[in-house]
Amino acid sequence: MSDAASNGGAANGALAGRVVLVSGANGALGEAASRACAMAGATVVLLGRRVPRLQRLHDELAAIGPQPAIYPLDLLGATPDDYAQMAARIEDGMGRLDGILHAAAEFQGLTPLQNTDPLEFVNALHVNVGAPFLLTRACLPLLRRAPDAAVVFVLDDPHRVGRAYWGGYGVSKFALLGLLEVLADELEQSSVRVSALQPGQMQTGLRAKAFMSERPGTWPPASAYADACVHLLSAAGREHRGQVWSPPVAWPPIQIAADDGIAASSTATTPLPLPMAATSAPERAP
Ligand SMILES: NC(=O)c1ccc[n+]([C@@H]2O[C@H](COP(=O)([O-])OP(=O)(O)OC[C@H]3O[C@@H](n4cnc5c(N)ncnc54)[C@H](OP(=O)(O)O)[C@@H]3O)[C@@H](O)[C@H]2O)c1
Repeated sequence: MSDAASNGGAANGALAGRVVLVSGANGALGEAASRACAMAGATVVLLGRRVPRLQRLHDELAAIGPQPAIYPLDLLGATPDDYAQMAARIEDGMGRLDGILHAAAEFQGLTPLQNTDPLEFVNALHVNVGAPFLLTRACLPLLRRAPDAAVVFVLDDPHRVGRAYWGGYGVSKFALLGLLEVLADELEQSSVRVSALQPGQMQTGLRAKAFMSERPGTWPPASAYADACVHLLSAAGREHRGQVWSPPVAWPPIQIAADDGIAASSTATTPLPLPMAATSAPERAP
């Protein structure tokens, strides 16, 4: 793949026949990536904690790709048994699992460590590192049975979050890099690839918790990185095995004068057309 985060991978069937699980499917990146995965042909298991929003996304994806499934789960309270049950239900319902995108993240805002609620710190470490470990661990037997499986973590810029006030979130992203390196080494000879996406700053709810008064449009939307998620989950993602990938995106959009004199904008990412909401009853957890 080129260096760009988007090369239209979502449209080319790069994930046809694959089942991928996306955690944080209700979040900005998780939702955009889930949509791109469905457009690329994947059956997407949408993991999140807000059922009505999961159902809405489910209906949207059902109209553009293979029949998805939702799996409501709060990563903060989920136990190893919950993850084992989840893996068993994916196996029963889908018969396979080819990839996991860990897009969920817990962040409560910028606070000095001295003033941080100890529980908040521990919770961030649990949701951002403990949960990806437990989820991946439970799914590994299923992933190992796939001919080409991918585990994709989502990191943050260590130069930004390894600084004052980023608290448990910042610490957890360093630990997640450690998890990537240990797991990638252990699975080096297997059919399961481990890699990480390190997006640039994105205009999302998570970022707004740190920079409340930021002007909209300052940073690209999470959808700018959706095709990069597809790429890492697809067979083409082999080139990033064991690595952290920080794809550049063109932002702000380049203004191109259209023939009729009206300025048209062009970005590295083609906005994905939103389908009409499907009217069929959404499928519940697999
Ligand atoms: N935004 C940026 O500038 C930026 C930059 C670099 C990296 N990243 C990374 O990109 C990834 C996506 O972030 P985002 O910006 O898209 O943030 P976001 O919109 O806030 O999405 C985060 C998601 O995580 C979910 N989540 C949090 N705690 C959970 C729990 N206990 N159980 C289940 N789900 C939980 C949230 O669920 P709810 O919807 O229910 O709250 C939300 O859907 C994160 O890993 C983040 O670290 C973001």
